[in-house]
Amino acid sequence: MALPRHAFFRGRVVPYAEARIGVLTHGLNYGTGIFGGIRGYWNADEAELFVFRPHDHFRRFLESARLLDMTLPFTAETLTEALVGLIRTELFREDCYARPLAFYGDEAIGVRLHNLSPEVSIVAMPYGRYLENEEGIHATISSWRRVDDNMIPPRGKITGSYVNSAFAKTDAQRAGFDEAIVLNADGHISEGSAENFFLVKNGVAVTPPVTDNILEGVTRRTILELLREKLGIPVVERSIDRTELTLADEAFFCGTGVQIAAITRVDHRPIGAGRMGAVVTALRSLYFDVVRGKHPDYRHWCHPVYSDATPAPVPETVRLRTQI
Ligand SMILES: Cc1ncc(COP(=O)(O)O)c(C=O)c1O
Repeated sequence: MALPRHAFFRGRVVPYAEARIGVLTHGLNYGTGIFGGIRGYWNADEAELFVFRPHDHFRRFLESARLLDMTLPFTAETLTEALVGLIRTELFREDCYARPLAFYGDEAIGVRLHNLSPEVSIVAMPYGRYLENEEGIHATISSWRRVDDNMIPPRGKITGSYVNSAFAKTDAQRAGFDEAIVLNADGHISEGSAENFFLVKNGVAVTPPVTDNILEGVTRRTILELLREKLGIPVVERSIDRTELTLADEAFFCGTGVQIAAITRVDHRPIGAGRMGAVVTALRSLYFDVVRGKHPDYRHWCHPVYSDATPAPVPETVRLRTQI
């Protein structure tokens, strides 16, 4: 992957090479950071790039920061403006992915969350698929268990907790699978290493509730609405037993990176017919229209980069000290 050309760092867009931190940085040493992932979709008919639900992503970004006692000198609106300004500098005319990050920037020894100063950066890069075979994932049930809300809260996108995801992902891929499905300590399905999870059985979609140690995904919320409002498929949010997956008609992962990926086999057993089913097929087709700004009912989720007349301001980064 080529490095980005620019970064939003310390309140302004700078050449990527200037966005540098020291090896003692708190967030690097202790995982005291939070991040996001946002996609931009190129619409060739309109010659416009649409960023998908940036305000919702940045609202979760700010909530993740609050979990770490981190006060950021930004709102969802000013972060969206910073992202739009960065993409305009990059002049992307293709699908892209943006990575906002906030971390404690102090170069100091001592694990804690208080009396530290946050830094914020955003980078963006051209981006295609996250998983190669989105139409037929072979997943495994991981031997790693999901971190719990009382350990490192998974409802926030906290950098340190992604070691849990990395264990699951690497073991899955080294064993020849595409992706891991991670169970909670009580044995119920939580999610994939970086994706939310749904199954479909007898025309009803089921997904774990936000109290089952999942990231509260923006894509998950999008899909709840699309399934219910556009495809007429009821969705139940409840805990899911492992063997319900074995007997499901369809299953899929969803997330900004993975978009919507059909899970067609788990641990060498076919899910349903063992190929992408009717619900996932319809949902993917609808989703790709929605994110590219082609569905009139959901244009408000798609933030135009180039035709947006508002100037992209350059907010000054204020290094705030959080209170105990
Ligand atoms: C652990 C985890 N779950 C779910 C998701 C999906 O979240 P979203 O749809 O907001 O991208 C992600 C993606 O970032 C993730 O890392």
